[in-house]
Amino acid sequence: MPHPEALTAPIYPVREDTELLGRFANAGRGRWALEIGCGQGAVSVAAARGGSRVVATDLNPHALRSLRAVALSEGFDLSVVRTDLASGLGRFDRILANPPYLPTSPAARDPDPWVNLALDGGPDGLAVTRRILASLPEHLLPGGAGFVLCSSRQPDGGRQALRREWEGRGGTVKVVGTRSVGDERLEVWELRKSEPRADLSR
Ligand SMILES: C[S@@+](CC[C@H](N)C(=O)[O-])C[C@H]1O[C@@H](n2cnc3c(N)ncnc32)[C@H](O)[C@@H]1O
Repeated sequence: MPHPEALTAPIYPVREDTELLGRFANAGRGRWALEIGCGQGAVSVAAARGGSRVVATDLNPHALRSLRAVALSEGFDLSVVRTDLASGLGRFDRILANPPYLPTSPAARDPDPWVNLALDGGPDGLAVTRRILASLPEHLLPGGAGFVLCSSRQPDGGRQALRREWEGRGGTVKVVGTRSVGDERLEVWELRKSEPRADLSR
């Protein structure tokens, strides 16, 4: 049941991209899950329903208030934090993000700052995704994984460059979910960082 604020305030509604990311929300009972940029919080709620301990961040205070009310009323193990991406937070087993990804020139920004925050991915649509990938390693527990939504609205060359950069640092990227919405193709990337190998010579 959405909180009343979710129906009236400028909070990103549940869309096809939310639903696609939500398929990967279950981090496992007792595991730590982080959703960066939670919006209405459908992905965080799915993670909490699966028994994970969930932290949800956003910069939009309406989004956080609405999700906090849902968590309190349903008794979920879910904390909300107003922070830039994952700033100031620790490490998690699973990190989920559906960042703003629409290529947006300054002139095309939505006049509502919260609507713009949810959609504006910078000139190539990758500005926030790029920042998330850069900070992911410091927030993943050993064996943990990031699940990040990408879109064909972001230029293919830019996405492939990000992928190569991650792999160049020894990590792996797998496309684990796809969905077409009209002429747009949505993807969920599973990102794992390089893990130190066990020394089997001893
Ligand atoms: C595309 S919406 C996705 C919302 C929700 N995760 C979903 O899948 O429906 C992006 C969300 O990220 C939030 N956001 C954008 N930039 C952010 C930042 N730097 N730090 C935290 N949240 C941010 C927006 O306010 C918005 O709620």
